[in-house]
Amino acid sequence: MSYETILTETRGRVLLLTLNRPKALNAINAQLTAEVIEAVTKADADPEIGCIVITGSERAFAAGADIKEMQHLTYAEVYGKDRFADWERFNAVRTPIIAAVAGYALGGGCELAMMCDFILAADTAQFGQPEIKLGVMPGMGGSQRLARYVGKAKAMEMCLTGRMMDATEAERCGLASRIVPAADLVEEAVKTATIIAGMSKPAAMMTKEAVNRAYETTLAEGLRHERRVFHAMFATDDQKEGMAAFVEKRPATFSHK
Ligand code: CAA
Repeated sequence: MSYETILTETRGRVLLLTLNRPKALNAINAQLTAEVIEAVTKADADPEIGCIVITGSERAFAAGADIKEMQHLTYAEVYGKDRFADWERFNAVRTPIIAAVAGYALGGGCELAMMCDFILAADTAQFGQPEIKLGVMPGMGGSQRLARYVGKAKAMEMCLTGRMMDATEAERCGLASRIVPAADLVEEAVKTATIIAGMSKPAAMMTKEAVNRAYETTLAEGLRHERRVFHAMFATDDQKEGMAAFVEKRPATFSHK
């Protein structure tokens, strides 16, 4: 399928997905939603892809859900179609996903970045949940994920005032894993993704699942889940290869099985 609102490029075992509605600062409309979800779902099923990078432009990762598309919708329409529920399919992707954010990541843009497994921020990045200024509130997970990323005080302030947070603040409070110069952002993200994609894919998928469990369950259940998944890894070829390579003092060559 050819896409109109995103660009996709395969670099080794990494899928680089670039949001591409520059005139609308990558505002997330129905078409972009469908194309992003289709592309990541396809990559997730592809054994040749070990990590996905999602990025935008220098000016904007994404400036939110498309306000012009939503403006005249009624309650019956948004509730009837369960607007934004399609993103559950994005959340079901088991391949690791990195958000490489430069410029604005606002509203749905910030929420899309937070749906990814971690955020690399350019020094130009600006994060925010400004929906309240439109008379609404976050609808793609912002009130829930921002609170989990940065804690209640900052999430509440961000969602209630709509103010933006720069890259330094985002890194300090745990929203971004690292800050990189804007000019190096995509290369650095692909480099990081290439490291992840070089690991055993089952190990990376199970690790993602285990870390995400930490946000969904009690500590006791999470620890039990982690232990059981750790045990299961001894059924993989990659565990045999990874440990043999260490003992034989050579690099591991994973078969992703
Ligand atoms: N939806 C639709 N179009 C958008 C948009 C959005 N979220 N954000 C920007 N655009 C469009 C603008 O309308 C403008 O288009 P025109 O040239 O046709 O007028 C173009 O992108 C460039 O934007 P600006 O002229 O506004 O650029 P700027 O540099 O002056 O300002 C900005 C940049 C601060 C990001 C500003 O565009 C802005 O505030 N955007 C809206 C941010 C926002 O409120 N996001 C939340 C959306 S609701 C949501 O996301 C709900 C949810 O939880 C899922």
